[in-house]
Amino acid sequence: MSGIPHNHYEPKTGIEKWLHKRLPIVALAYDTMMIPTPKNLNWWWIWGIVLAFCLVSQLVTGIILAMHYTPHIDLAFASVEHIMRDVNGGHMLRYVHANGGSLFFFAVYIHIFRGLYYGSYKAPREITWILGMLIYVAMMASAFLGYVLPWGQMSFWAATVITGLFGAIPWVGDAIQTWLLGGPSVDNATLNRFFSLHYLVPMILVALVAIHIWAFHSTGNGNPTGVEVRRTSKAEADKDTLPFWPYFVIKDLFALAVILVAFFAVVGFMPNFLGHPDNYIPGDPMVTPAHIVPEWYFLPFYAILRTFTPDVWVVMLVDWVTFGVINAKFFGVIAMFGSLIVLALAPWLDTSKVRSGRYRPMFKWWFWLLVLDFVVLTWSGAQLTTGIYAYISLIATTYWFAYFLVILPILGLIEKPLTPVATIEEDFNAHYGVKSHPAE
Ligand code: HEM
Repeated sequence: MSGIPHNHYEPKTGIEKWLHKRLPIVALAYDTMMIPTPKNLNWWWIWGIVLAFCLVSQLVTGIILAMHYTPHIDLAFASVEHIMRDVNGGHMLRYVHANGGSLFFFAVYIHIFRGLYYGSYKAPREITWILGMLIYVAMMASAFLGYVLPWGQMSFWAATVITGLFGAIPWVGDAIQTWLLGGPSVDNATLNRFFSLHYLVPMILVALVAIHIWAFHSTGNGNPTGVEVRRTSKAEADKDTLPFWPYFVIKDLFALAVILVAFFAVVGFMPNFLGHPDNYIPGDPMVTPAHIVPEWYFLPFYAILRTFTPDVWVVMLVDWVTFGVINAKFFGVIAMFGSLIVLALAPWLDTSKVRSGRYRPMFKWWFWLLVLDFVVLTWSGAQLTTGIYAYISLIATTYWFAYFLVILPILGLIEKPLTPVATIEEDFNAHYGVKSHPAE
């Protein structure tokens, strides 16, 4: 599977040979588990496994929740209360599923920023990155669809606001919005199709994740140095790598266990901490909540969506030039999707020859500013859109675009990077190598 030479599965017994000839599934499993993995991977490389765990956990809890949930506007809210009160362990299942969504996004943000720092997105891992972006979009779709299902106030109004974004598209927007909703407004048809799609999208996620893993197994994992595994001979490759099992499996499982302690502390002691109290009020089309806020993990992009109000000069200019076709609302929608597109284009916008941020003295500063920027965007997505908040959000949004469209391309040209280590083995020995004791 990988370009790195390693020991492949050899069927030994008669039955093994029989199966291998017909379906080499044991070979696939063996080669996947024993894949040579750069031995200098640090703790930032554990989040992929956390994500895989989240996906499985969401699927298992979701399937059981679906057995007790009723996708009808008159019954949905009550059926969720029924899960909480009457179904054995139902409250636990629901809280693991709801907070599992948060852990999923928390992990994916670290995973993405890890990729941005270590340049994991660069050649030859562009496909892994693009698949990751598709996964991320599918995650967002799935989380949004799921949030509508309990049919609380926030569910109803989130569905109204988000589907309204499609209504902002010139000419065809209204038709798309009606098509999405299954009628002129958010109603029973909407809830029904959202339930169906909330079940479907995670299946697509499973397929995308399988291809994501296939992609980085084909190129081999990156690592903190950005230096590739030596592939000229098996002896050299062996010096740079260790088999995934048992070394990385045990390390990843240890990290997962620690993370799950924190996760279950939240699930057990503060399960509604990340939720909005208004979602315990049944959805009511006649009562608009004072402040409609999405879940925390959507806030950065919600901030970008809302920041382009009609009084921002660039919005005014575009509105004027396009005769009002691109008005403030549509501008916001373009900006929100644009912010994801620039992230997806990182492999082509980053012009640096050196892959890892570890060896890029100027890049580091801009990268950490981007992390701060993301935190500011998250915060400002939950604030009002007036006064000082409007300016902060606009500055933070501008930095997001500037980072990808201006800073990344220019930095690669003007920065003088340090010289990376020659081999992964050298890096490993410098960090974890056995040092002889002076007394020995
Ligand atoms: C369900 C979601 C996801 C799962 C289960 C997943 C799983 C994994 C796993 C197991 C790895 C190898 C170990 C590691 O790097 O932690 C990995 C690597 C990678 N992932 Fe993901 N991933 C997901 C989402 C994403 C997203 C959203 C992106 C970026 C947009 C992304 C980009 C990458 C990249 C570039 C690598 C290669 C890193 C390297 O080898 O240096 N992944 N992923």
